[in-house]
Amino acid sequence: MKIAIIGQGYVGLTISAFASEHFDVVGFDSNETLIGQLNSGVSHIEGIESSLISQRIDAGRYRATNKGIDIQGCDVVVIAVPTPLTPDRKPDLGFIEAACKTIGENLTKPALVINESTSFPGTLRNYIKPAIEKYSPITIEHLYAISPERVDPGRTDFNQKNTARLFAGLTEEASLLTKKFYSTFCDNLFEVSSPEVAEAAKLFENTFRQVNIALVNEFAQIAHSLGISVYETLDAANTKPYGFMKFSPSAGVGGHCIPVDPPYLAAVAEEHGAPATFIRRANEVNLQMSEYIVRRVAADNGGNLQGKHVLVVGVAYKPNVADVRETASELVIKHLRNLGAAVSWHDDVVGTWKGESSTPLQGADITVVVTKHDSVDEKKILASAPYVFDTTGKVRGAKGL
Ligand SMILES: NC(=O)c1ccc[n+]([C@@H]2O[C@H](COP(=O)([O-])OP(=O)(O)OC[C@H]3O[C@@H](n4cnc5c(N)ncnc54)[C@H](O)[C@@H]3O)[C@@H](O)[C@H]2O)c1
Repeated sequence: MKIAIIGQGYVGLTISAFASEHFDVVGFDSNETLIGQLNSGVSHIEGIESSLISQRIDAGRYRATNKGIDIQGCDVVVIAVPTPLTPDRKPDLGFIEAACKTIGENLTKPALVINESTSFPGTLRNYIKPAIEKYSPITIEHLYAISPERVDPGRTDFNQKNTARLFAGLTEEASLLTKKFYSTFCDNLFEVSSPEVAEAAKLFENTFRQVNIALVNEFAQIAHSLGISVYETLDAANTKPYGFMKFSPSAGVGGHCIPVDPPYLAAVAEEHGAPATFIRRANEVNLQMSEYIVRRVAADNGGNLQGKHVLVVGVAYKPNVADVRETASELVIKHLRNLGAAVSWHDDVVGTWKGESSTPLQGADITVVVTKHDSVDEKKILASAPYVFDTTGKVRGAKGL
C-alpha cells in the first residue's frame, strides 16, 4: 500500500515514521522549508530521530513533498493538519479545508481517507467528505474514517505502538480497512460505533484535563489564602487509593490541545443548545492564572515591578519540548511588562521565539519559573536572582504557588 500523510508536524511526522516501516509513505506538507529539511534527513520534532528519517529515505520508504500530484495513486490518505481557534476562539477548519482541496484535486482512484486532526463531532461526515467531493473534478467513492491522535510529544513510555487507538469508519468497509492499516504498527485498537463518538471522545479527554487543571489552579489560590501548601495538600489527598486523580497547579495551560480542544466541544454543544459552563469557566480560570501569578510576584516585591529586571525561565508550553504554541509564558510576560518590568527569558530548548533569544540564567532582580526543562539546573535558577517565584513546584527553596 502507498500512504500519503497530509501535514508533517508533530502528528503527521510521527505517523509517517511508524507507517514507513511497513509502507511507502509520502509526507505532504505546505511548508517548503520543512520539506527540504525532512528530505535531507532532519527531523524537527522530539521523539522522532533524524537518523530514522534518513534510514527511511535511503530505503525508499519515505519522502516529503509539497506537490499535490505526489499523493496521486495512494491507497490511504491520513489528514494531520492544525485545527486551531479563530481570534474569537471558535473552531477554525481552514487547514482541514485546504487539506481536503489537496486530496480532492489530486486523487484519481478510490482511497481510504482517515482524519487524525482533532475536531468536533460531525467533522468527518459533514465537512471532510463533502469538501473532498466538492474539490474532486471527477466522482470517486472514497472510504472515510476517523482515528483521533493521542501522541504526547517527548513522552517515551507511551507511543504509537502501545497507546490504545480509537477508530470508526463512515461505513463498515472503511472501519475494516482502517483497522488493517493501524494494526501494522499499533497493538491496541478500539472500534467505536460511529465517527462522532471517536471525535467526541478525543475532545472529552482533553476537556477532562482542562477542567481538572482549572480546578487545581483555583485550589492553589484557595490554599494560598488559607496559608497552607497546595502541594502538601494535594499529596495528602493523593494518598486515597481510589476516587482521586492528582493534577498540579501551573501558570496556565499551553500546547495545541488543552487550550484549543475544549472550545471545539463548547462550540458544538452551544450550537445544539446544550450547556458548556464548566468548559467556558475552566478556560477563564486557566487564562487568569498568569495574572494571579504576576500579582503575587508584585505583592512580594513592594507592589511595584517598574524597571525591575525579571527573568522568565521556560517559554515552552511544557518541559523538555521546544513547542511554544499557546504557552502560558506569553501571558506571564505580557502582564509583567504591563507592570513596567524589563522582561527577558531563558529557554535553551526553544532558543529563539517572537524575535527574541534565550538569555543567560543570571543577573536578574526577579526570576519567575514557568516551565522547567530537566536540563535546567535548580541551583542556577535559585542563584539567578534574589527573589525566585516557581510556578512548577519543582524548585525547592523558591517562593511558589
Ligand atoms: N501535537 C500534539 O501533541 C497532538 C496530539 C494529538 C492530536 N493533535 C492534533 O493533530 C492535528 C495536527 O497537530 P500537530 O501538532 O501535528 O500540528 P503541527 O503544527 O505540528 O503540524 C501541522 C503541519 O501541517 C502543515 N500544514 C498546514 N496546512 C497544511 C495543508 N493544507 N496541507 C499540508 N500541510 C499543511 C503545517 O505546515 C505543519 O507542518 C491537530 O488537529 C491537533 O489538534 C496534536
